Amino acid sequence: MSASPPVLSIEGVVKFFGEHQVLRGVDLEVAEHQVVTVIGSSGSGKSTLMRCVNLLEVVDDGVITLDGEDITDPRADVDRIRRRIGVVFQAYNLFPHMTVLDNITLAPRVVHGLPRDQAAEQALDLLDRVGLRDKAGEYPDRLSGGQQQRAAIVRALATDPRLLLLDEVTSALDPELVGEVLRLVRELAEQGVTILMATHEMGFARQVADRVCFLDQGAVLEQGPPEQVLGDPVEPRTRQFLARIIDAGRL
Ligand SMILES: Nc1ncnc2c1ncn2[C@@H]1O[C@H](COP(=O)(O)OP(=O)(O)O)[C@@H](O)[C@H]1O
Ligand SMILES: [Mg+2]
Repeated sequence: MSASPPVLSIEGVVKFFGEHQVLRGVDLEVAEHQVVTVIGSSGSGKSTLMRCVNLLEVVDDGVITLDGEDITDPRADVDRIRRRIGVVFQAYNLFPHMTVLDNITLAPRVVHGLPRDQAAEQALDLLDRVGLRDKAGEYPDRLSGGQQQRAAIVRALATDPRLLLLDEVTSALDPELVGEVLRLVRELAEQGVTILMATHEMGFARQVADRVCFLDQGAVLEQGPPEQVLGDPVEPRTRQFLARIIDAGRL
């Protein structure tokens, strides 16, 4: 009997942009129902790593598997793989010319072939659960930044993905709006959604993450349970990074 593979496995991933090596052999795993947060300075490669997982970038070396399937194989079916991953970026996630409801039902209808009524019913149910049902008919620019990000998370979940990628989803928000988005992510974590999340919200990482990975100059310098990596880091560079974050008032 063999244990099932992790939902996501990243092994030795290398990425260059021209001469610039941005990822230097990243190793990271996310097991089912786990929340793994990636922390690290701006420019350390967090977004590039996420983009490699979602196949928006082609890796130069290494292997990424999703449920045991090698998704970095050049013969892999990119569309089919992307359907199994939900993604939310820092900002501008929603299509501005579509209502919230149409944003959410688009992929279930077009990609998964769900009838319009059924897609709408499911979307309204999801919106209800995050307190946004009354915004279903609005265009994104009528929503606050926090509401937009919550709607974007709902959209990412509408196709029932195996993995949710969250790339600094609160970084562009006014401070008073950060909490409502983190509360939603916490609820999803409690419901067992498997999440890989780049974030500067150390308090959130400490409370919600199963594992914290410190990415430094394109490599995972240190990873482990939050109380270890955030509370008692081994590496001097992790300590320096956390000290800067504390200075910025984010711990
Ligand atoms: N498309 C690109 N072309 C060239 N360089 C890039 C590109 N995307 C990111 N980079 C560079 O890769 C490095 C890592 O960036 P990024 O992954 O965005 O880091 P982070 O998300 O941790 O801030 C940075 O030096 C950035 O300038
Ligand atoms: Mg980034």
